[in-house]
Amino acid sequence: MPFSNMMRASSERTHSRIVLALDLQDNDRETLTKKCSNILETVAEYICALKINRQLVLALGLPTVSQIVKEAHKQSLPTIMDAKLNDVGHTNSFMMEAYVGAGFDAVIASPITGWEGGMDAVFEIARREDRGVLLLVYMSNPGAEQFYAMITGDKQRPIFESFTQLAIDWKADGIVVGATRPEIIRRARFLAGSAMEIYSPGVGTQGGDGERALSNGANYLIVGRTIYGAESPREAARHLYESLK
Ligand code: XMP
Repeated sequence: MPFSNMMRASSERTHSRIVLALDLQDNDRETLTKKCSNILETVAEYICALKINRQLVLALGLPTVSQIVKEAHKQSLPTIMDAKLNDVGHTNSFMMEAYVGAGFDAVIASPITGWEGGMDAVFEIARREDRGVLLLVYMSNPGAEQFYAMITGDKQRPIFESFTQLAIDWKADGIVVGATRPEIIRRARFLAGSAMEIYSPGVGTQGGDGERALSNGANYLIVGRTIYGAESPREAARHLYESLK
């Protein structure tokens, strides 16, 4: 099933647009693994997908992360690897195969490598294995403007607009645009059309407003610390879930 259909089905099932970013930390691997499982279980009914970052892969190793991916799948939740892939082809291939092998349904990649000898490897494997690729179009951090807003190319437009066009040309399964910049979400939505799924990180702790991101065209909100950093992650997830209804 195409990744965007998988996401839509999951979102319709749980009536949620929240993608949980599970960026937990703990020096003890066993404790960290348990924390991940517990939070996933406790908030599962309020989210529509799970996103895992490289920091968890570094801390736990891919085999353990793969178990967490399986747990998410048992809860019928799609899984995204926030790999921000942006290397040359053979290196991208290696990483992509590893994440596919770990069971992830989609990866996040950066279009900055260009197609030939860069992103071509990522898309080739994704298509072969029926996985999704989400392209990073505009990051959520304050300094993102330094690069993503840079005017470039024959068309003299901000580079994020070129990235949005590349996502269309390469048939990406979605784009990532920070929730901290609703006007950029709106512009990306206008350029990408209604079919492109927009994922927005940066809600809550980074200052982004989830409702505003959605009303400006985002489909899904990626949320980490606001949920897992709360005294009661379940309550925090429920609160956000209710506020978005
Ligand atoms: P918080 O705790 O701020 O975590 O809710 C956000 C999560 O999303 C990731 N993140 C991004 N990923 N493009 C991405 O692909 C971005 O612009 C971006 N900003 C934040 C972050 O790594 C964390 O997992």
